[in-house]
Amino acid sequence: MTTKPEFEDIIAIEEKYQVATYKKFPFVISRGEDVWVYTTEGERYLDLYGGHAVVSTGHSHPRIVKAISDQAARLIFYSNLVYNDVRARAARKLVEVAPDLLSKVFFANSGTEANENALKIARKLTGALKIISFEGGFHGRTPGSLSATGLPKYREGVSPLLEGHVYAPFGDLAAVESLIDSDTAAVILEPIQSMGGVRLAAPEFYQGLRDICDEAGAMLIYDEVQTGMGRTGEYFFASRLGVVPDMVTLAKGIASGIPIGAVLMTEEVAAEIKVGDLGTTFGGGPLAAAALEATIDVIRDEGLLENVRVNSQYLFGALGSLDSVQEVRGLGYLVGIKFKGGSAKPYQQGLLEKKIITGLADDPSVLRLLPPLTLRQQEIDLFLEALSGIEG
Ligand SMILES: Cc1ncc(COP(=O)(O)O)c(C=O)c1O
Repeated sequence: MTTKPEFEDIIAIEEKYQVATYKKFPFVISRGEDVWVYTTEGERYLDLYGGHAVVSTGHSHPRIVKAISDQAARLIFYSNLVYNDVRARAARKLVEVAPDLLSKVFFANSGTEANENALKIARKLTGALKIISFEGGFHGRTPGSLSATGLPKYREGVSPLLEGHVYAPFGDLAAVESLIDSDTAAVILEPIQSMGGVRLAAPEFYQGLRDICDEAGAMLIYDEVQTGMGRTGEYFFASRLGVVPDMVTLAKGIASGIPIGAVLMTEEVAAEIKVGDLGTTFGGGPLAAAALEATIDVIRDEGLLENVRVNSQYLFGALGSLDSVQEVRGLGYLVGIKFKGGSAKPYQQGLLEKKIITGLADDPSVLRLLPPLTLRQQEIDLFLEALSGIEG
């Protein structure tokens, strides 16, 4: 008698008891180590998706594991109504790696919640209503963040969303100028639009937005949920161009997979927030704070920013010379590969057959790589070799 493989049972149970809202890969991952994940069947996959840009220090990095297990043994949770040693250290460390001027943090639990809080702060402090965001941008799935999301398919069926949201083409300063007015609370953008197909704007766009916001008295918010914490080869995109937003929102990779979100802000913004204006039960809990602190330590001690800068240059160079590739977009380990054939799906499927996990984007011609920051040249070579053997 043959028994059903364990993974089939697990898939059947998830399908039976979970709401079917995700299109899942057809295997069960039960273990991870650095850039590799392992299925229940003992197969090994190279993870160039990083659990969707989350696993910044690689899967189950021993220092992250130790930090969270030690913390769990000491104190798993207490509320924000008491001071806590590890939250204090995590807040200081995050601010120390943030761009100058972004010197205060509010902890939340996810990317969408970080954005909700940033948008709320902007409206509350300016007394204005309008929020300008960009076509192609993604900011989350709760009402405020969803209202700012410039990919209409995510907003379908749930309108009307929040009042006062308008959208400009990404990179178009003139369009922002025509929309902004004295009733504008904020301009929010992903500095690199990831879901939208890994799109960057010209450097002048980022400086121009700062100037336009200053002139109108509106706040500038960078959603760095994907670009933050080393992914572009700097701790933050906002560290690159000398343009400092009023707020930067973070989540995903900042604690290597333990859920946490954060809003970094300037002293001036923080000074106007009063006791009771913001709050969340779990935000900045000790376990998440321990993971955040350890993540920053690992990035620093293992030279991961340098690793991203050097190896992404190698990756971009090699991809650019492939016949099937029309364009390589992004920065560091936020990579969009646009294929000439118009569809990235056969490449994702072909790579999956060769045991390499990658992601797609809203633009169907773009394959996305969001690997752990620990990815080295030898694994990049495995990927390049696999990719060059796939027909689109
Ligand atoms: C740029 C960006 N902002 C916000 C979010 C929402 O984050 P979360 O899923 O943690 O709510 C995402 C999620 O993919 C994102 O990519």
